[in-house]
Amino acid sequence: MSLPTLHDHHRPLGSTGLRVSPLGLGTVKLGRDQGVKYPNGFTIPDDQAAHLLLAQARELGINLIDTAPAYGRSEERLGPLLRGQRDQWVIVSKVGEEFENGQSHFDFSAAHTRRSVERSLKRLETDRIELVLVHSDGNDLAILEQEGVYETLAALKREGKILGYGFSGKTAAGGLKALEQGDCAMVTYNLNEQAERPVLDYAAEHGKAILVKKALASGHICLAPGVDPVQASFELLFAHPGVCSAIVGTINPVHLAHNVATVARILGRP
Ligand SMILES: NC(=O)c1ccc[n+]([C@@H]2O[C@H](COP(=O)([O-])OP(=O)(O)OC[C@H]3O[C@@H](n4cnc5c(N)ncnc54)[C@H](OP(=O)(O)O)[C@@H]3O)[C@@H](O)[C@H]2O)c1
Repeated sequence: MSLPTLHDHHRPLGSTGLRVSPLGLGTVKLGRDQGVKYPNGFTIPDDQAAHLLLAQARELGINLIDTAPAYGRSEERLGPLLRGQRDQWVIVSKVGEEFENGQSHFDFSAAHTRRSVERSLKRLETDRIELVLVHSDGNDLAILEQEGVYETLAALKREGKILGYGFSGKTAAGGLKALEQGDCAMVTYNLNEQAERPVLDYAAEHGKAILVKKALASGHICLAPGVDPVQASFELLFAHPGVCSAIVGTINPVHLAHNVATVARILGRP
């Protein structure tokens, strides 16, 4: 029997015209091992292991990959790793957060936004990024109301350097505001945290895209005893019509296959 894949379950990324798999690959662990909140320590995979992980993800029907300048070397590793297969991926990156010498700092100005996207294009060795999200520090409304980041992303979209933009925030109010103009909100939504659910409801009503981060509560949910916590997490997510895709940050091929099989089974139910 062949392994279940996600090829038959690709769906529209809101109104962007792009189609993506219901699971995406998060790449924090490809680039950064400092200042992260995972339950266990880990070693950043070398190029060969990263190549194999990406090949496995593609074979399982994943076409969505999430990175950010704040994920250490993630963007600059993905450039070479995706050579020759760029058109097979929908890339999501971010602006606003920088991570240097073990510390985050934030800049949501127009000038930094443009510089950051130009740098992401170079690092990713590409002429366009499908989706760029504002990497919020938590002051969601202040960023949207007082900073130049959203206007600059809108201009970069008009110029064709990015195909869509949106906001990865921490509050429901921020997510709702971000979707008035933007294409996508990346929200935390899992068995432990559902405060951003109104953003999902709004997206479902208005044809906007939702990407879920921390779908497995950064791995902490996997430690729960009893029912399969991965299955329970994905059942929660995909029961909501607003959810487009869950970005799961695994570097373990067994976990990747299990996550794909679980989502394929849930979405394949009549
Ligand atoms: N502000 C933002 O924009 C923001 C913030 C956080 C995250 N993100 C994005 O969202 C992605 C996901 O977030 P996240 O990494 O914090 O949380 P997550 O996807 O909820 O959890 C990832 C953790 O779960 C573990 N895991 C995955 N599948 C598993 C399975 N089947 N069984 C047991 N453990 C499993 C992984 O370990 P293994 O590697 O061992 O599988 C990893 O430690 C990130 O990579 C990033 O791309 C964005």
